[in-house]
Amino acid sequence: MPDYSERVAIDTESSTEPADRLRADMVARLREQGAIRSPEVAEAFAKVPRERFAPEAPSLAAAYSVNDVVITRRGADGRATSSVSAPWLQAVMLEAAGLTRGARVLEIGSGGYNAALIAEIVGPEGQVVTVDIDPFVTERATRFLAGTGYSHVKVVLGDAEHIRDGSYDAVLVTVGAWDCPWGHLPAPGGRMVVPLRFCGITRSITFVRDDDRFVGLDPTVCGFVPIQGAGAHHEQVAALAGGAVTLTLDGGPALDTAALDEALTAEPSELWTGIVARPDEPFDTLHLWLATHDDACTRRTPWWRPRRRPGLPQTSHPAGDGLDLGLSSGGKSP
Ligand SMILES: C[S@@+](CC[C@H](N)C(=O)[O-])C[C@H]1O[C@@H](n2cnc3c(N)ncnc32)[C@H](O)[C@@H]1O
Repeated sequence: MPDYSERVAIDTESSTEPADRLRADMVARLREQGAIRSPEVAEAFAKVPRERFAPEAPSLAAAYSVNDVVITRRGADGRATSSVSAPWLQAVMLEAAGLTRGARVLEIGSGGYNAALIAEIVGPEGQVVTVDIDPFVTERATRFLAGTGYSHVKVVLGDAEHIRDGSYDAVLVTVGAWDCPWGHLPAPGGRMVVPLRFCGITRSITFVRDDDRFVGLDPTVCGFVPIQGAGAHHEQVAALAGGAVTLTLDGGPALDTAALDEALTAEPSELWTGIVARPDEPFDTLHLWLATHDDACTRRTPWWRPRRRPGLPQTSHPAGDGLDLGLSSGGKSP
């Protein structure tokens, strides 16, 4: 899976076309992809000048590339801590939020651009609040929003983990989270769109409030910079097999690297499900099922192999006329 949080904007074409043309092309492509489904979201993307929120983009064309993020801030270790998210993902999340005119919306994780899109959709009678933990981000978001005519968006500096009060028609979380402490914020019937990371994969999930419960819909595999502050989650990273393999785990008990080293060299065991997928058929739902049904998810890995090629499980998607899906784990018993 591509990690969009780490992708840099690529100057695929050196264009001198004006921003208006690039913006119109971006909307057309997002419609073709199915990321934009409503006229309201299309109109917002057609209007807000994305390049004014992404001066770090290497070119105007890069600022409007539908699949690329523009990284705007890095931590001391060089990893991205803030970005203007990729248009395709912003469009998918805005559509998922079901925004209507006059809606009250909370955005967690600022930058300015997405808040401006929300402001366009909800109109002057709506309310948009955006919260970010980093003063560098809130300062520039405030400046960019004022410079583009969206000074009515309220920019707040703080750790979103601690937001206690509020009632919103939609809560849009635009930072990778391991938990969702915002369930008290959506109004009855409101929606909360959250990129949740579990078992190594992040999915944007739309939670619709239904009385005292939430119904989760439309998981979309995506990538976001990780949340900082009280909700930060520290991954475990282990170098195995003499450094040949690097294992990154979201959580769980402390890694037993000696046992893992042995698992890499021991006879593997495989459990084939008997299910065959077409080569072009996505099967990330197998991972989602495992992550939500099997406590041993972190110890079992979905594998696939082409029907025509016997032998070891494949680690990349092979060509073939069908794929056997199965589970693999180190040691003898699957
Ligand atoms: C991907 S960026 C947001 C993108 C933005 N919504 C846009 O317009 O494209 C994620 C932001 O989340 C912020 N963030 C990280 N942890 C946070 C926290 N605990 N509370 C609020 N903001 C946080 C980061 O500083 C970063 O600016």
